Amino acid sequence: MVTGGCGYIGSHTIIELVQSGRYEVVSVDNNVRSTPETMRRVERITGVKVPNYKVDICDKAAFFKVFEENPDIQGIIHFAAYKAVGESVEQPLMYYRNNLGALANVLEACLHFGIQALIFSSSCSVYGDVKNLPVSEKTPMGQAFCPYAHTKQIGEEMIRNMMVPNPSMNALILRYFNPVGAHISGMNGELSPDKPNNLVPIIMRVASGKQPSMQVFGTDYDTRDGSCIRDYLHVSDIADAHVKAMDYLLEHRNQEQCEVFNLGSGNGISVMEMLAAAEEVVGHKLNYTVGGRRAGDIPAIYGDSSRANTLLHWNCRYNVHDMMESAWKWEQYLDSEGSH
Ligand code: WQD
Repeated sequence: MVTGGCGYIGSHTIIELVQSGRYEVVSVDNNVRSTPETMRRVERITGVKVPNYKVDICDKAAFFKVFEENPDIQGIIHFAAYKAVGESVEQPLMYYRNNLGALANVLEACLHFGIQALIFSSSCSVYGDVKNLPVSEKTPMGQAFCPYAHTKQIGEEMIRNMMVPNPSMNALILRYFNPVGAHISGMNGELSPDKPNNLVPIIMRVASGKQPSMQVFGTDYDTRDGSCIRDYLHVSDIADAHVKAMDYLLEHRNQEQCEVFNLGSGNGISVMEMLAAAEEVVGHKLNYTVGGRRAGDIPAIYGDSSRANTLLHWNCRYNVHDMMESAWKWEQYLDSEGSH
């Protein structure tokens, strides 16, 4: 089971699960932040019709019915959550209720239906502002800079605490850095809201003329070119890590009941470098102005994913050029579909 399967990372993970040839998948997604159309894109790419149960995971009775209808579920990959940083500051309760309420029902389903493999979608934002880089799994959680990040910190603790009374449960916590890009076919990608917050969707809106220009939020940071550094990685690489993580759990290769993995490329890339990579792909200059810093941004963060490389046998296949090229292909695909 993939919760949030109609979402950005969820749908790319379903594609990789299906194409691995080892998994049959059901999705649970109430589509409040996604569209059922995504499952048709998954079908066009994989040739497989993956069912999506349009269910709110916070509705325990409805959520449990999915397990009754699919008694042979072996594992759950839990993506479904709200994840907009700014919105979480404005509406913290909506975030705590949705993100933690859903996770509580997922954990209760694991117990009730004997599901022994849980993979939890966490985020590098649990580290807060880190001084010594790269970040390893041993880096302690810092002060969460927003309620969204706080729900990921609490979620991780909920999972860890559930392991104690339930010896048959196993969980992997995957902390993503910055997933970007689209499926290499250009036929699935991020359906960002009309006013996206993240860097790459905004770059693509400028590149395709949907917005006249964009702002670089500060070039006065203490980094190599003054702009913020992040660990961007291709969404299909993140997706592939989930397949390898489920293999790891179902093959009982985990040493402890609950293990944490960073999923990053290990390379820090700056905003200006991302803009340069995008200009190379789209073939023209991008209109941007340098503005003030954005509240909540940290100067630099990038990960050390050697644990995932070694134990999950996972490595990034795509580089920043591939990330931009796939994002651009997807942007043009959407324009041709006229569904933007
Ligand atoms: C990246 C850099 C901006 C837009 C967030 C969440 C994180 C995760 C990924 C959920 C920053 C700069 C951006 C623009 C810019 N989400 N930028 N101009 O903030 O690293 O991470 O998304 O899991 O939890 O915090 O990603 O893409 O928003 O920003 O200069 O128009 O691009 O200042 O330095 P971020 P981002």
